[in-house]
Amino acid sequence: MYKLSSKPLISKAELSERVNSLAAEIAAAGEFDILLGILTGSFVFVADLVRAMPKANEKGMRVKFFKASSYGDSTESGTLTVSGMENLDLTGKRVLLVDDILDTGNTLYRLVPMLKERGAAVVKTCVLLDKPSRREAPIEADFVGFKIENKFVVGYGLDYADDYRTLPEIMTMEEV
Ligand code: XMP
Repeated sequence: MYKLSSKPLISKAELSERVNSLAAEIAAAGEFDILLGILTGSFVFVADLVRAMPKANEKGMRVKFFKASSYGDSTESGTLTVSGMENLDLTGKRVLLVDDILDTGNTLYRLVPMLKERGAAVVKTCVLLDKPSRREAPIEADFVGFKIENKFVVGYGLDYADDYRTLPEIMTMEEV
């Protein structure tokens, strides 16, 4: 059994400030043709990130999403299911793959080669949160918002069994 923490791990103001600085880091690293968000957890982060990247959008950076899920109704990792990638034309494209959190790394580790197989010229990865202590796969993200401890986090798009996605800050789930 888990319950929501009483205090945020990352406040609205901290999220906003870091998303803006992350957008500047990404812009300084070059242009991307497509930002690919992984549903569902990244939807809030992507919405804020693209609005902090006005130059990229002026230049016509596309924003697309596909679904990848490795979690059921628990905090333990499960099988990866991918859908919506079949319609993506990535031939010769510079792709920025965006996820909410890099945890074991198994999801991004499997997705990056799939995008390259679909013809992407460059695939860079961006995550809002990174839990390095949980890593199983040999992968690091190119752009990281916050490194966090090994706590299950919710809010700002992240869920626990589909709850709490709409919380505006990052909260933790605590075992009771
Ligand atoms: P892996 O372990 O493959 O995990 O790097 C990536 C996906 O797992 C989900 N995930 C979480 N979701 N709170 C969440 O709401 C967490 O603390 C958490 N840790 C991993 C997430 O969907 C991510 O895309």
